[in-house]
Amino acid sequence: MRMVDLIEKKRDGGQLTTEEINWFVTNYTQDEIPDYQVSAFLMAVFYEDMSDEEITALTLAMAHSGEVIDLSSIEGIKVDKHSTGGVGDTTTLVLAPLVASVGVPVAKMSGRGLGYTGGTLDKLEAIPGFQIELPEEEFTRLVNQSHVAIIGQSGNLAPADKKLYALRDVTATVNSIPLIASSIMSKKIAAGADAIVLDVTTGDGAFMKKLSDARRLAKTMVRIGALTNRQTMAIISDMIQPLGEAIGNSLEVVEAIETLQGKGPADLLEMCYVLGSQMVVLAKKAPDLDQARKLLEEALESGKALAKFREMIRNQGGDDTVVDHPQSLLTAKYEQPFLAKKSGYVTKLVANELGIAAMLLGAGRRTKEEEIDYAVGLKLHKKVGDKVTEGEPLLTIYSNDLELNEVERILEKNIEIGEVAVELPLIHEIITE
Ligand code: URA
Ligand code: CA
Repeated sequence: MRMVDLIEKKRDGGQLTTEEINWFVTNYTQDEIPDYQVSAFLMAVFYEDMSDEEITALTLAMAHSGEVIDLSSIEGIKVDKHSTGGVGDTTTLVLAPLVASVGVPVAKMSGRGLGYTGGTLDKLEAIPGFQIELPEEEFTRLVNQSHVAIIGQSGNLAPADKKLYALRDVTATVNSIPLIASSIMSKKIAAGADAIVLDVTTGDGAFMKKLSDARRLAKTMVRIGALTNRQTMAIISDMIQPLGEAIGNSLEVVEAIETLQGKGPADLLEMCYVLGSQMVVLAKKAPDLDQARKLLEEALESGKALAKFREMIRNQGGDDTVVDHPQSLLTAKYEQPFLAKKSGYVTKLVANELGIAAMLLGAGRRTKEEEIDYAVGLKLHKKVGDKVTEGEPLLTIYSNDLELNEVERILEKNIEIGEVAVELPLIHEIITE
């Protein structure tokens, strides 16, 4: 086979065979095809799209381009969750113990993420002692015993996707539905998922700025899930303002604990119930979404979900007294209120810009090598739609440095107060097969 023929076929709107896609992925992973040919190919896909059969073949080829995790020694249906990107997204910390407490096995491999703020692993490491590196046998033993463990991702998961993603990033081909769908689904399959729940975000701060594109991406992934025998559901959620109130690692652990105590932000809790219900149904622990939600509400209200979080922390070597004294995690030297300059209603909180402000404080990394400061971040006291009076704190800045000019400049520019109350949706749509 020759790469130039595959490029030409796609350029002219043709459909590639599974054999051709397998050949391309295998050889590109082994550095046998140069980046310039693959760049041209990606641009052809960007314009000519791919059929479901092609996306399925690409997904499976990328999933099998490296290590494929075998979770078969864990009993039950392993459901994985994935979000296409959010700021202050604390859902995994809440969802993992919540659904595990009703018997859904959560064998989660998480990434650190190079976003503005830390990934799930960074947040867990904000808990003193918490181990994110466990031998595989210990990982499966813990999931069989406690239904939950969260560890770091293996380095060799879907290497084809890693290479392709890096190339897409510099050839303006990230924003292509077949390429995003296969990228996400290949990693979930390589991580051993039997079923998948997707949170597809839309809005200024997301990959998919338009709702219609988010819907197309979500529907594509749900179809690809079915075609690869991984039942998949998706929600389309709004990512215009941050989710919950905390942005920053320790702050988000505190927020997760408070949510499991029933004292967390309403939007975060609702998101966890909606995503969690899908996980429960896919794991066949409830026959429908309504009954799944009831199970989860009972688990949260009875304290079962919080107890599960404590158990998970203890299992992985962490200091579980943080569950009783979450505030002990908030060790930043300075807590500065950021005040409203006028009265009215909050009309804008630009999610990704607030994420950048948190990163500048030290809550995220700009490069892979940078160290994270777990203690710093932002805690919002007002969300879009809330009433505020002049001089009232809009948020608190947790920092270890008094040099806050740049952070305050970003906050100034990206928080707006207007005269009319506006309401933002949380979840636009739920997509099932
Ligand atoms: N997230 C991914 O993992 N891959 C993409 O292509 C886009 C978002
Ligand atoms: Ca949050």
